[in-house]
Amino acid sequence: MSATGPAPAPGAPPPVDLTVRLGRLTLPNPVMTASGTYGKGLEFRPFYDVSRLGAVVVKTITSEPRAGNPPPRLVETAGGLLNSIGLENPGIDEYVRTYLPLLRTLRAPLVINIAGHSPEDFAALAARLDPEPGIAALELNMSCPNVAHGLDYSTSPDAARHVVALVRSKTGLPLIAKLSPNVTDVRPVAKAAVEAGADAVSVINTLLGMAVDWRRRAPVLGRGVGGLSGPCIKPVALRIVKDVSRAVDAPVIGIGGIQNADDAMEFFVAGAAAIQVGTANYYLPTAAVDILDGLPSRFAVLGATRMADVVGTLKDPVLKA
Ligand code: SIN
Repeated sequence: MSATGPAPAPGAPPPVDLTVRLGRLTLPNPVMTASGTYGKGLEFRPFYDVSRLGAVVVKTITSEPRAGNPPPRLVETAGGLLNSIGLENPGIDEYVRTYLPLLRTLRAPLVINIAGHSPEDFAALAARLDPEPGIAALELNMSCPNVAHGLDYSTSPDAARHVVALVRSKTGLPLIAKLSPNVTDVRPVAKAAVEAGADAVSVINTLLGMAVDWRRRAPVLGRGVGGLSGPCIKPVALRIVKDVSRAVDAPVIGIGGIQNADDAMEFFVAGAAAIQVGTANYYLPTAAVDILDGLPSRFAVLGATRMADVVGTLKDPVLKA
């Protein structure tokens, strides 16, 4: 819906301008999908018009094809999902040849998520994708807990700065740094990424966890540990979004257990300029577009007509001595 659209039906919430600016990236609305939970987007076309989304963020691409981790790779937990996929993907050559043309047919802004095994590898991926048409932005997966060294670039500010700066030197595309919650404080890492040239940061990737089969005295996941996502991580994600959005001079994209429009509003108020819908896509394929459709009525409750009326408006608690 846009502020210049047709007059609302009687009783309908007033028009809302949901346009968001994430540095150099402008999106028609703040509802994105989270990398790894949305297939190639094509799978969701039977459910709704994918071009309505703010952006589609695709599963991480690496330089070489990856078979991923040994099974089992998924375990349901109370209120969440543990995954240990291990960045399975066909590699950049096959991706550019076969999948990118298909993704362009979605007609939604496309955010390509990449992961390198070194800063130079990240940079090479960015350089490879830079001339490709139809890419709105790159999201740097600096926070995969399921591969060796996957967390290195978002557990140290210096490492984050180095990888983002190197990628920045290879592409003019907007950059989103996807960061890990598996640190005491995400803020120094986020600051380093923004200072090095990230247009936005996305928080949070999954929380490192495990499931145990006590009868076998063994971990359930093939790799032993995995990344926890879903509604159970939402409180952690909200706290980190609030902290990071107040610490960095760049927009923050909120991720973590968002399954309905009220969840999305919580993230906006906490400081998220946009959100990504992840695990909910698995059990409610229409989750992302349902959230989008639910925003105007929630904005009306606050008397808000644009994102700036909501984003980061969280009040501080009144603490009594
Ligand atoms: C995976 O492929 O293991 C998940 C990716 C991620 O958590 O970054």
